Amino acid sequence: MITAEGLTKRFGDKTAVQDVSFTVQPGTVTGFLGPNGAGKSTTMRMIVGLDRPTSGTVTVAGNEYRKLRAPLTEVGVLLDAKAVHTGRTARDHLRAMAATHGIPSSRVDEVIDLAGIGSVARKRAGKFSLGMGQRLGIASALLGDPHTLILDEPVNGLDPEGVRWVRQFVRHAASEGRTVLLSSHLMSEMAQTADHVIVMGRGRVLADAPLEELVRAWTTNTVRVRTPRAADLAAAVGGPAVEIVSSAPDLLDIVGLPAARIGDLAAERGIPLHELTPTTGSLEDAYLALTGDSVEYRTKEIA
Ligand SMILES: Nc1ncnc2c1ncn2[C@@H]1O[C@H](COP(=O)(O)OP(=O)(O)OP(=O)(O)O)[C@@H](O)[C@H]1O
Ligand SMILES: [Mg+2]
Repeated sequence: MITAEGLTKRFGDKTAVQDVSFTVQPGTVTGFLGPNGAGKSTTMRMIVGLDRPTSGTVTVAGNEYRKLRAPLTEVGVLLDAKAVHTGRTARDHLRAMAATHGIPSSRVDEVIDLAGIGSVARKRAGKFSLGMGQRLGIASALLGDPHTLILDEPVNGLDPEGVRWVRQFVRHAASEGRTVLLSSHLMSEMAQTADHVIVMGRGRVLADAPLEELVRAWTTNTVRVRTPRAADLAAAVGGPAVEIVSSAPDLLDIVGLPAARIGDLAAERGIPLHELTPTTGSLEDAYLALTGDSVEYRTKEIA
């Protein structure tokens, strides 16, 4: 479990993280989301003692990270995959890390295999591609077989096989009761990976909820109906809480009624339906709705 209480971090007059409190539960994958500059990496750095909070506290399994005696075996961290000695081979980098914790070199070979970098383990890390560097960072995080994983954009730069591997790996880690905090900007990937999400915006927590609950709360469910008697159906389902948009003569997008109710109303009136499709919102829809006011670096909209 990771517990943050009133975490605040200021850099000069910039408040990067402001009064952030949350718990990350074991046995779940918690997704950490938010626009560029929202404060995710800064929060993760404070969890592992790389940034000192201006105020507030954060603990991992009840302890401050810097007080852990063998941190690699308790917390696996991927923050900046480029933080390796570029002249060392991947294997030597991992062996040096392992040596500081009395981790046997057989474990080094295990994580090299796990992360799929066996064929380049004897090459200098400085020559690695983005994805290979990322895999080496993941291998480092796994070295101590830690109970807690903190991964900042681990799939950034990974090929599809690597992305799927990370997803399956963290799901498996959570199923073993481990604590996983994982940031990413890939919403469709996050939707398949996380059980719970914490969303940050401008240094604050905007939402902290089970993924399904967040999507339900921040999206609207639409039912798409195709019928040759669209006007009759619109009249039948219409009401104060029902919103109907018609983009073609035979097409209605209805918000505010479940598909079954629309089907029943149509049947009662003998209105033929050619399509009845409920659509639920996506994590991306929910995220964009939730963070709309918190985006600092907004791109130009395409008309
Ligand atoms: N060492 C630092 N000195 C000054 N400002 C910093 C420092 N580290 C982070 N910041 C600022 O703190 C804010 C939060 O940055 P952070 O890297 O935590 O965001 P993030 O949510 O990880 O964003 P991204 O999605 O782009 O990775 C930003 O405005 C950033 O410029
Ligand atoms: Mg970041």
